[in-house]
Amino acid sequence: MRVVLGVSGGIAAYKAIEVCRRLVDAGHHVTPVLTDAAVHFVGETTFAALASAPVQRSLWEGTIPHTRLGKTADVVVVAPATADLLARYAAGMADDLLTATLLATRAPVVVCPAMHTEMWEHPAVQDNLARLVARGVVVVPPETGRLAGGDVGAGRMAEPAAIVAAVAAAGGPRDLEGRRVVVSAGGTRERIDPVRVITNRSSGKQGHAVAEAAAARGASVTLVTAAPLSVDAPAVEVVRVESAADMEAAMVAAAPGADVVVMAAAVADFRPKASAEVKVHGVPELVLEQTPDILAELVRRRDPGQVIVGFAAETDDPLERGAGKLERKGVDLLVVNDVSAPGVGFDHDTNAVTILSAGGGAVEVPLRTKREVAEALLDRVVGLLTTTHRDPPRTAPADQTGRTAT
Ligand code: PMT
Repeated sequence: MRVVLGVSGGIAAYKAIEVCRRLVDAGHHVTPVLTDAAVHFVGETTFAALASAPVQRSLWEGTIPHTRLGKTADVVVVAPATADLLARYAAGMADDLLTATLLATRAPVVVCPAMHTEMWEHPAVQDNLARLVARGVVVVPPETGRLAGGDVGAGRMAEPAAIVAAVAAAGGPRDLEGRRVVVSAGGTRERIDPVRVITNRSSGKQGHAVAEAAAARGASVTLVTAAPLSVDAPAVEVVRVESAADMEAAMVAAAPGADVVVMAAAVADFRPKASAEVKVHGVPELVLEQTPDILAELVRRRDPGQVIVGFAAETDDPLERGAGKLERKGVDLLVVNDVSAPGVGFDHDTNAVTILSAGGGAVEVPLRTKREVAEALLDRVVGLLTTTHRDPPRTAPADQTGRTAT
């Protein structure tokens, strides 16, 4: 998405630097537009180093920059939006590049007010905001917290994560509106005793990115996560779990009625048969057993028409193994990542995947941010949903031991 990041002159402008970085990391093309007051708080050079395009400051440089910026933007976000900026925008003034761009754009606009409590509560500010909301402007409300000068109260700009989520929601496609999506994330932890666990290297970033991207596209999302990560989307219902058994119970409870189920979690394949009640001293002899195959269980219980997505973390012959897993697991899409490749899979901010489809065909997504990988996956999911996915429920075949291969 092409994002114009307007920065007006308040102390919260320092947080706009983080907003800029996160927007770029999420794959957006960011052009910062700084007001004269903004540069009293933050340097142009910082934005120049982080953004995708040169910093813009003046109406008088280049040819009609405000209409060019306004027309090409997918979203304009103002963070921070001071009381003065809100007043000028609400009044329809266009006396600098930022306000002129705000009037010249037809793209969604997101404003992130930041000011002292007395100013925030002033009827003039609230009237201006109400006018902007009535015109369709999205407001990311400020929080209560520490303000400039050590005061504490309402008016502190929202955190960058919430702002980035609001931008994605405002500018991205809303093609999952009315859909319910359930996603799993993170590496489960299987207890040896109250102190030690068996786990794996999953950070949960890929699953969280899928959940956040689905929420931004309008879905109502339940995220079942074993990762200690925060969630950058207020609309996501988060269910925290630890073990494979917890995750199975949460996924089985959440999946009925969902349009889409995505198993991005790295579920531990085995666990201690018994875990000790108290800390084990010395070296224990562990007897391991297989964990439940959650994905197979979800496929067995699948609602008619429900789209089920699995992931496969592979290190050798990823595509061949992935194709076998697609078949065995009975999923609609299988996202294969070669976790031995640089920048791919566990804990990285990036991933590279091939999305295999049960209907045939493969889409390759080269090394991208996990959010971009999530978007590419959701494009495929939306494709399946819109071609009225009506295949009868399929079941995953069991192996000779009665267990399903993972
Ligand atoms: O979390 P990150 O650090 O961002 O890393 C992302 C990731 C590498 C974890 C992710 O991209 C990924 O590949 N997730 C699946 C990892 C995995 O467990 O792969 P698998 O091939 O072992 O399992 C295949 C599928 O079966 C997966 O959808 C898995 O969730 C599911 N499974 C596996 C075992 C089990 N007992 N129950 C399951 O449901």
